[in-house]
Amino acid sequence: MRTIRIAPSLLSANFGRLAQAAKEAEEAGAEYLHFDVMDGRFVPNITMGPAALQALRPVSSAFFDVHLMIVEPERYLEDFRRAGADGITVHVEACTHLQRTLAHIRSLGAKAGVALNPATPPEVLEYVLEDLDLVLVMTVNPGFGGQEFLPTMLPKIEQVHQLVTHVAHPIAIEVDGGIDVHTAPQTVARGANVLVAGTAIYHHPEGVSAGVRALRRSVEG
Ligand code: DX5
Ligand code: ZN
Repeated sequence: MRTIRIAPSLLSANFGRLAQAAKEAEEAGAEYLHFDVMDGRFVPNITMGPAALQALRPVSSAFFDVHLMIVEPERYLEDFRRAGADGITVHVEACTHLQRTLAHIRSLGAKAGVALNPATPPEVLEYVLEDLDLVLVMTVNPGFGGQEFLPTMLPKIEQVHQLVTHVAHPIAIEVDGGIDVHTAPQTVARGANVLVAGTAIYHHPEGVSAGVRALRRSVEG
């Protein structure tokens, strides 16, 4: 069976208790911790920076998965890596020199990811496949948690899956936005193997641990 990783998005957690939120997710078996970094320019919202990672690094050994929704992400790569990022994902729409930015992330010793907004076609990845470790297919328009999953992204996940299977090294396919026990299995069926979830985990009526377990059960049958 394919390994599915769960990446709770701290954006939906209580910011007054981030350490607790990070620990609970890890104890429940989440392999990743997803950091949504927004600058008020690439997206309308403003969230967190490297200081948040740095504060949480001592309390968590999860893979710190940093999703940069910022303009000129190349300016902040070192800062996020130094603060504890294991993987850094940039938006193709925010990168003028995408290949250089991906190579830079890898040169820092982190996994390099590319995120695609819903309107961005997967063909933009064709000439950077050798340079990336993860493709993040946005299943909502980035900016806020709690939005509704866009089912029109399902064929795109499939297309990305086809593109990456021809590459010699492993490339993860992550989905982000409106992922819950109903939508997650649909994305996994198309090739997704990293599931970001904010609302479904941090607002689960029975708590974080129940949220992680329910999501895992939904895709592992
Ligand atoms: C959206 C962020 C997501 C978001 C997911 O811009 O990238 O990570 O927080 O939240 P839910 O799971 O609530 O859609
Ligand atoms: Zn995200």
